[in-house]
Amino acid sequence: MALRNIIEEGDPILRKHCREVDEVNERIQMILDDMVETMREANGVGLAAPQVGIMRRMFVAEPAPGEVYMFVNPEILSVEGEQDSEEGCLSVPGMIGRLVRPEKVTIRGLDRYGKEKTLTFEGFHAIVMCHEFDHLEGVLFTDKATELFREEDMPRDEE
Ligand code: NI
Repeated sequence: MALRNIIEEGDPILRKHCREVDEVNERIQMILDDMVETMREANGVGLAAPQVGIMRRMFVAEPAPGEVYMFVNPEILSVEGEQDSEEGCLSVPGMIGRLVRPEKVTIRGLDRYGKEKTLTFEGFHAIVMCHEFDHLEGVLFTDKATELFREEDMPRDEE
């Protein structure tokens, strides 16, 4: 496995619509494995292929420690409800945004072995999956944010 460079906002690659993966072969598996390693190294909870310069429809996520998901050619089958989200992105370092995400999302896609799976996510997991899916459409959380802060200026609720 190898670390890959994370592309940052301002690079047009992050604004492109990604194409489907034709086949989940060894090359794709290697990229997915590299993406997990890169995400962990950067202390992220998700990483989409365009963030490492690959214009294909796939992302990895680890919304809870040790709970790794890999989606190739994901489709959102349904969304339900709403929740407030505070999120950042490895491609937009130092920024936090407030936005509204679905409370629940059902995604169908292929796993690391090319096997189709359908999973439903709620709460923080749903936020992560929706955020990563947006990357495949060239959408960043900053596009949807109603408020944006530099990390150090983030108001603290407990104060
Ligand atoms: Ni992101």
